[in-house]
Amino acid sequence: MKIGLISDLHTDVTPLNRAIVPHLIDAVKAAQLDVFVLAGDLARHLVQLSETLNAFQLADLACEKLFVPGNHDIWAIETPDVTSEQKCEIISTLCYECGFHPLTEQPFIKEQIGFCGTIGWYDYSFAPDGYDFSDAQYAEKELMGAVWNDKRYAKWSDTDPVIAGRFEAELNAQVASVRDEVSRIIVVTHHVPFQECIQYRGELPWDFFRAFMGSKRLGDICLEEQRVTHALFGHTHQALDMQIRNLRAICAPVGYLQEKPTVGLRDYATQRLVCFEI
Ligand SMILES: [Fe+2]
Ligand SMILES: [Fe+2]
Repeated sequence: MKIGLISDLHTDVTPLNRAIVPHLIDAVKAAQLDVFVLAGDLARHLVQLSETLNAFQLADLACEKLFVPGNHDIWAIETPDVTSEQKCEIISTLCYECGFHPLTEQPFIKEQIGFCGTIGWYDYSFAPDGYDFSDAQYAEKELMGAVWNDKRYAKWSDTDPVIAGRFEAELNAQVASVRDEVSRIIVVTHHVPFQECIQYRGELPWDFFRAFMGSKRLGDICLEEQRVTHALFGHTHQALDMQIRNLRAICAPVGYLQEKPTVGLRDYATQRLVCFEI
């Protein structure tokens, strides 16, 4: 089975982020995948998010298409009273309409391979060592004039640690529900499951904001189940492919395209799509 991963298309951030989409679709087609995984952060507005999902749908790809939303996708900005929980539900409906399987709703099984997924969130377990910020300061998501934009736009019904715990529990339940039916499990999250994948720089405010990268428990769930062989994620905008104990951790983001890549958009799209066989 050939699997392809990409994340963080951010089609609403720069014209290049929008322009790369057809090239990504071509790259997915050329790779002749069995399963294509899109690990979140497509766009903050539902209009652009559905446009992008639709573009993949219209390409009539032969592969299965799986999706987990990212933090930008669940930003509740359409109306003053919409919540992030409601946006998650709307996104799942959009996925079904566009031929994507929303992993947040239920796991997906193909040929004895189980795919389990969640957006994940953060509980400040990735807060950097060497500083003495309190949880209350992390909850403010603001330091030295810089703001983590989830503060403005993510509208959950509870605190960050509670939301992180909710998604961790959902992932844990998915893993438990498929484990006896499959030979291996691939976990997909948007937020980062391993601290080893976080780059600290020894400077502020950068290190402070690493607290919002993900949670340790996400990774522990992967490591506790022997059948989990891959953890796929996004969010960091730093491409990664690391062995962590008995599993492979992969992040394949597009990120913010402020300048045209020197290799051109077509080749860049092919380079960013990470493909692997199992
Ligand atoms: Fe992102
Ligand atoms: Fe993100």
